[in-house]
Amino acid sequence: MISASSAACSAYGACDLFAKGDLRPCSIVIFGGSGDLAARKLIPALYNLFIHDALPDPINIVGASRTVMSDEVFKDRLYGFLIEQVEVDQQRWLEFSKKLFYQAITYDNGDSYLELADFLDGLDQKNNTLKNRMFYLAVPPSLYPVIGAHLGQAGLAVEGKDGEDWARIVVEKPFGRDLDSARELERILHDSFNEHQIFRIDHYLAKETVQNILMLRFANTIFEPLWNRSFIDHVGIVTTEKLGVEHRAGYYEQSGVLRDMFQNHLMQLLALTAMEPPSHFVAERVQDEKVKVFRALKPLNIDNHHDNLILGQYAAGMIDNQPVCGYRDESGVTPDSLTPTFAMLRVYIDNWRWRNVPFYLVSGKRMERKETKIVIQFKNVPHSMFRNVLDENILANRLILGVYPEEKISLSFQTKNPGAKECLRPVTMDFKYNSVISKTELGAYEMVLLDCILGDHMLFWRQDGVELSWSFITPVLQFCENCLMNKDDLQFYPAGSLGPEKSQEMINLLMKG
Ligand code: BG6
Repeated sequence: MISASSAACSAYGACDLFAKGDLRPCSIVIFGGSGDLAARKLIPALYNLFIHDALPDPINIVGASRTVMSDEVFKDRLYGFLIEQVEVDQQRWLEFSKKLFYQAITYDNGDSYLELADFLDGLDQKNNTLKNRMFYLAVPPSLYPVIGAHLGQAGLAVEGKDGEDWARIVVEKPFGRDLDSARELERILHDSFNEHQIFRIDHYLAKETVQNILMLRFANTIFEPLWNRSFIDHVGIVTTEKLGVEHRAGYYEQSGVLRDMFQNHLMQLLALTAMEPPSHFVAERVQDEKVKVFRALKPLNIDNHHDNLILGQYAAGMIDNQPVCGYRDESGVTPDSLTPTFAMLRVYIDNWRWRNVPFYLVSGKRMERKETKIVIQFKNVPHSMFRNVLDENILANRLILGVYPEEKISLSFQTKNPGAKECLRPVTMDFKYNSVISKTELGAYEMVLLDCILGDHMLFWRQDGVELSWSFITPVLQFCENCLMNKDDLQFYPAGSLGPEKSQEMINLLMKG
């Protein structure tokens, strides 16, 4: 157990959770305003920011989607979802709801965007909001190019000089489905928006413990000297889930685990674990260092793919003692689907620091437990002076950065077991966030919305990173699609297990501790 002393804050007051900087009046337009993401994630996050006085004042929050409805119906709908999720203070809701508006839009009709522009101008005049605008695309990715292009044509992407009248567009993954489509999307968005106006969300980056990786590595002197091929045997980056495909078969059948988890979340965790220290903790410098990691990724050795790539799909099994069906029996999934729901990749980073250190990236649905962690496995002691006295192996040190369920850092090492007999006992030193630091009330969506209002790109993908990540994953996807056509390499694992047989040994090792 470790105790915490008082915190040191960054220049813009990051320790004060909800007072991060200059929150300028703005309008947030949520395309897909009548949809699930808006109702379940975005509005609750905005409400949470509001009750902590962390939203700009004044602010307009405008839902925009195809359905025609009045402001009042829009608000009632959101209220219904909100009370299912959080405790709502009636007075605060009344104040918050005054900031909510609705405007129906036809996504592929230019006039509709001109009407939206007029509507926003009207709100600016009425409510004294400035012409700062965030356009959040809570819509299927097929609409990103359509909406992006129309916003540009309607003049809604134009910014003033020196940071006045900003216009920002927020998109969620997937950013394309391979390298070519990612470049095409980029071309269309960049026709209207500059890179600094585009915010590509990866919700893993907004997780507190994920952000902590850089603090642990670079705000301490004791870890960094060991953080390299001389001391580290291998690294595991694991995100397993109990959930199956749920109601998202349409999307998942096209995506599979490699597009759904690897191209984005696992690549970000890999970059944070492996990158060099940036000269300053500012978004551009951090992104530069991440990009160098992606650039140094050794293309996966496809000829030797059995050692580097394991793919699986869940079959029927038990989760929490309840029987669950296999992937192929999920509604919306084709009965002979070859979509992988599990993958383990062994990747190498071809640079001085990491030469020959394997990084095992693992993710799967319907596994035994939900867990996200980074395992740094140190090397064995080079010489054991205890070998004549002790018959047991000396377990090598291991540092675990736990992201879920426990937000923790734990270091395991050997101690002497008390008593006359010479024997070793492995122990762990744990730092658990929740035991010493009051739980942050900032969820991932609060973080990204706030950072977007502030124009801080730290928690978002930059386009060169997106493309490099696709450059690495696309050949793997192509290879998988070919070999899966031959049904060679897809291994079935029972729901509730630790994945396919072939990966068990490594998974068992990584899941320990
Ligand atoms: C999403 C994936 O990006 O991340 C989902 O599309 C996955 O399939 C989810 O379930 C996992 O996120 P978390 O935060 O629950 O680990």
